[in-house]
Amino acid sequence: MLNRPTLTQFIIESQGHHADATGDFTGLLNDVATACKAIASAVARGALADVLGSAGSGNIQGEEQKKLDVIANTTMIAANEWRGHLAAMASEEMEHILPTHQRGRYLLVFDPLDGSSNTDINMTLGTIFSVLRTPDNGRDPVADDFFQPGTRQICAGYALYGPSTMLVLTTGQGVNGFTLDRNLGEFFLTHPDMVIPADTSEFAINMSNERFWYPPVQRYVAECRAGRTGPRGRDFNMRWIASMVAEVHRILNRGGVFMYPRDLKDPAKPGRLRLLYEANPMAFIVEQAGGMAITGEARMLDVKPTSLHQRVPVILGSTNEVQRIADYHREAPVMAA
Ligand code: AHG
Ligand code: MN
Ligand code: MN
Repeated sequence: MLNRPTLTQFIIESQGHHADATGDFTGLLNDVATACKAIASAVARGALADVLGSAGSGNIQGEEQKKLDVIANTTMIAANEWRGHLAAMASEEMEHILPTHQRGRYLLVFDPLDGSSNTDINMTLGTIFSVLRTPDNGRDPVADDFFQPGTRQICAGYALYGPSTMLVLTTGQGVNGFTLDRNLGEFFLTHPDMVIPADTSEFAINMSNERFWYPPVQRYVAECRAGRTGPRGRDFNMRWIASMVAEVHRILNRGGVFMYPRDLKDPAKPGRLRLLYEANPMAFIVEQAGGMAITGEARMLDVKPTSLHQRVPVILGSTNEVQRIADYHREAPVMAA
């Protein structure tokens, strides 16, 4: 075990490659990792700690908040607000940005608990986060500061609360996965240089929405389902865990495609997932692992955000399949260019 670097050692060593590093960023990642350990602990105690079920409140998206959504959000704030690395935070569970007590160099945006419909059934959950630079303009932080395209992320990651707790991270130099040793309280590097296979025969989508999809995704999924006797000439398999963290983690390990596409279910919503704290961090990780992430028509990381809780269609995973879906969108555009 101790022949593997801990997350802290790994971050300090990578910081050594940046001549201008002050240790600020290392400190920030340590704080985020500490928050993830605390959330993992609450998630693992489950019913014994009375953390399951509804909090009896709703978030700005009109979604019911689970107790664990609120606990995870509070934990992430507590681990970061006084540490000096951040100027502000934004979260799925907060309508507005939360300025911190110091004007730090970074902005943190997060989905404190992803897949929270899984809380009450003891299934996989996660936390997603993304780090941006605070604009160098001397003024107090405003929401606008967060509206940077995904290409400007300097770090993105997720914690996965499954049979083991993992933290998967990119700072733009590949993707590395760490597993929590619960006895030692340390994350150890267990999955160095994660790479998504370019080819796959596995897809993930909420099939119950099929009737609301646009033709390019309908075509792609119909062809997969037709299997060996269809145009693809081979059988495909399907998975749906209802936690994007879990789907992305599977894809990082063995390939696959994950889709929450644009649909007609609710015309007010161009997609289910949120750009700043779900789609962008995952797109950064997927690209860094050699995969592709698109909205259908565009590269995810090029989308210019316009609001904190903006929703976006998401298609990501193994390059050859995502490229095929991009081609289907080009042949039958669902959006005016
Ligand atoms: P959250 O729990 O943070 O609101 O996110 C849940 C998201 C995502 O993780 C998952 O892929 C999707 O919603 C599940 O949607 P369905 O309920 O349509 O399956
Ligand atoms: Mn989520
Ligand atoms: Mn969430």
